[in-house]
Amino acid sequence: MSIISKDIQKAIAILSAEKLVAIPTETVYGLAGNIFSEKAIKSIFETKKRPFFNPLIVHIPSVDALESIVSYVPKKAKLLADTFWPGSMTLVLKKQSIIPDLITAGKNTVAVRVPNHPVTLSLLKQLPFPLAAPSANPFGNISPTKPEHVEGYFKNDINMVLDGGACINGIESTIIGFENDEPIIYRLGALALEDIEAVVGKVEIKNKKEVSPDAPGMLERHYAPSTKTFLTENISEEIKKHIGKRIGLLTFTSDLKNDVITSQIILSIKGDMAEAASKLYEAMHHLDHQNLDVIIAERFPDFGLGKSINDRLQRATFSS
Ligand code: TXA
Ligand code: MG
Repeated sequence: MSIISKDIQKAIAILSAEKLVAIPTETVYGLAGNIFSEKAIKSIFETKKRPFFNPLIVHIPSVDALESIVSYVPKKAKLLADTFWPGSMTLVLKKQSIIPDLITAGKNTVAVRVPNHPVTLSLLKQLPFPLAAPSANPFGNISPTKPEHVEGYFKNDINMVLDGGACINGIESTIIGFENDEPIIYRLGALALEDIEAVVGKVEIKNKKEVSPDAPGMLERHYAPSTKTFLTENISEEIKKHIGKRIGLLTFTSDLKNDVITSQIILSIKGDMAEAASKLYEAMHHLDHQNLDVIIAERFPDFGLGKSINDRLQRATFSS
């Protein structure tokens, strides 16, 4: 029987019994558990095979709930929260002492966000505890944007996927930390840099490829299909290097379908980056199941969501 269900009351029962439910958000599906249950949190790490040094995001129902999670909110953090929550932005702030070390990997900061999905907001409002939820994929794999992706990954390991349909934004939240009260981007994501800067002015990006102590999840190779993937500015040149192989193409707007291409996905024929972001992981999942030898991905224009998409493609690929 499928573990996918729309039954919120069932999700509440499972979560209250210290077990896990995959939850829909507007970015990607999360693998959720009660932040105060050591059993549930350990089970998140075990199920994902995620190393314990990589901290989790706490999901809360409203901006008002922030004060129970964090001990200090810089002015610009409050401004960002009031502007963008519920939404695809995670803030890393000084934690309250009640937040367990398992959640924060022993750090004195905690990552927190109010997701913008009606089903999960309703769930969070009915629960007496917040939910820790990393993306619902095995560590290092492509994040799930549909309930079926989660079921494919974890079938017998979790009790339920709460069905909220396909994720509208399709890539993970933008993570913002604070140094001397100034915002710093730790992870580019579904909220574009330009939108953030319009509210708080110029923001530094520390979205490093190496493992940064500030954002321990930012590994160089991540979000990766198992098919060998190349990122390029020049699709035709890259194709020439792989003639004779089963080639899959992942492009923004370019249509290059010809005899040497086995499978092609165009992310947005009309050149809409939000549409492209929403389809990106689904396309990667799809191509990864076509029995291809290589996937060739086209680099996006380096602004707006294109910047965030390039970040994910970079981590999925061997650039050439
Ligand atoms: O869109 C999202 O953010 C999704 C949905 C489910 O909300 N969640 C998600 O979680 O992408 P996850 O665990 O896959 O990525 C969380 C990132 C990791 O890179 C982690 O290192 C970073 O957040 N993080 C968590 N707590 C942190 C902290 N205290 N300081 C710095 N980085 C932190
Ligand atoms: Mg993840």
